Amino acid sequence: MHDPASLRLESVTVDFGGLRALSNVSIEINPGEVVGIIGPNGAGKTTLFNVLSGLVHPTSGTFYMGGAKRNWPKPHELTQLGIARTLQGVGLFNDLTVNENLLVGASHVERDNFFKSLLGLDRNKQRHLYEEAQNLLAELQIAEYARELASSLPYPISKRVALARALMCKPSTLLLDEPAGGLGVEDIEWLKEFVLRFRSEKSVLLVEHHMDVIMNVCDRIYVLNFGELIAHGTPDQIKHNPLVIAAYLGNEDGE
Ligand SMILES: Nc1ncnc2c1ncn2[C@@H]1O[C@H](COP(=O)(O)OP(=O)(O)OP(=O)(O)O)[C@@H](O)[C@H]1O
Ligand SMILES: [Mg+2]
Repeated sequence: MHDPASLRLESVTVDFGGLRALSNVSIEINPGEVVGIIGPNGAGKTTLFNVLSGLVHPTSGTFYMGGAKRNWPKPHELTQLGIARTLQGVGLFNDLTVNENLLVGASHVERDNFFKSLLGLDRNKQRHLYEEAQNLLAELQIAEYARELASSLPYPISKRVALARALMCKPSTLLLDEPAGGLGVEDIEWLKEFVLRFRSEKSVLLVEHHMDVIMNVCDRIYVLNFGELIAHGTPDQIKHNPLVIAAYLGNEDGE
């Protein structure tokens, strides 16, 4: 496992054509912290998440890792950097089983060449990866689904599989985009405990609409509105921040 490094995104601006999705946004994630990103729909949360996961290249801005400036990560570099992510929605490979999805999460196995790259590994390595996958599935309490096709899973189970797949590369930083989205009360409770357990060794960046989750598990929270950072602080500070309250009320009125 990688030692967690601090991650810092400084003055990030993202333009999609004429639309400025992020404007001069700076955030940092320190080792062992759970950092939340909240904001109304369209505020730029996923865009920021995508910048950090290499899916969106920012128009301007600087990335620091462990205090050192470096190029923006590319998706295939994330594992090396100790970063793993789950996407908004589920994003599993539907035509693969749960086990196979987890093996793809390990850096050695390629999605496009699944069986060939798996068979290309020596038997010990194959067995080791398979055991790791079973351990993770057991830890996430979904072991009985190992042989099911991803397309056949109940939604909350597929969200856990996505989490297990992200953990296969032993990240030191986990990026989660709306992990509680669409879950019921019990699964949300489970998720909160999971994040708190995970935090003892690693860092988490959590994009989430569920205030209950955010307020209970985050050490610090950043608030975006229309692509701008309007507040930053502890859950208590954020709860009482008038700009945050106004942004959310404004959004409710508009819907
Ligand atoms: N690839 C893209 N091309 C053009 N515009 C985009 C693209 N991705 C996002 N946007 C726009 O950028 C803005 C920010 O979108 P983003 O998905 O980051 O918001 P969000 O805060 O994640 O919202 P939600 O809570 O609904 O997930 C929105 O206006 C969105 O329409
Ligand atoms: Mg989003």
